[in-house]
Amino acid sequence: MNINLLKKKAAWEALKYIRPNTIVGVGTGSTIYYFIEALSTIKHFITGVVSSSHVSTLLLQKQGIKVFNVNDFHSIDTYVDSADEINNKMQMIKGGGGALTGEKIISSMSKKFICIVDASKQVTTLGKFPLPIEIIPMAKSYIATEIIKIGGYPEYRKNFFTDNRNIIIDVYNLNIQDPIAMEKKINSLSGVVTVGLFFLRKSDIVIISAKNGIKTLKK
Ligand code: A5P
Repeated sequence: MNINLLKKKAAWEALKYIRPNTIVGVGTGSTIYYFIEALSTIKHFITGVVSSSHVSTLLLQKQGIKVFNVNDFHSIDTYVDSADEINNKMQMIKGGGGALTGEKIISSMSKKFICIVDASKQVTTLGKFPLPIEIIPMAKSYIATEIIKIGGYPEYRKNFFTDNRNIIIDVYNLNIQDPIAMEKKINSLSGVVTVGLFFLRKSDIVIISAKNGIKTLKK
């Protein structure tokens, strides 16, 4: 089956978890593109959304979905997003699309994080996908040096600026033995805005779309 069809099926399945008159947090990426399409069919059923990126905001507005400023809220009911890699503990690597900081802020504020993926995103060990880190431009050399010290190979993402006008370093070959310690360590480096490890705030429900149907994992 075509991978886009798998993404679309996962996206439509997520509608089951959206509650009436609530604010929905919306992630970023090609899977979320289908979720935004699906969400537009129930836009009168929800109060509106908060968006993790400029790209998603434009798509949401195009569908006539009301986008609120995230700072208008203290907590969000449900956050729906995809992942670049996910393991069977529902921990993820995210940020391939560069929107990791917005994604981490909204997921941290959300009562429920629903991750929608096609089966190709499932892995036993996280880390094959290069780990994105959003950093302020001044910290590029320092962070690269620190990443080499912990065994990773940093590569600056060329010609790319985040919505916050920062840059991204993608880290290859990182051996993630203790994920939570690694998330805390990288986040504590001066100049790091966010690391794309979603361990401290992992997902609560994972919808996996495969050739043989939909599988749902719950905490
Ligand atoms: C965006 O910054 C990412 O975190 C995406 O959520 C993730 O890369 C998955 O995107 P796709 O649905 O395009 O694979």
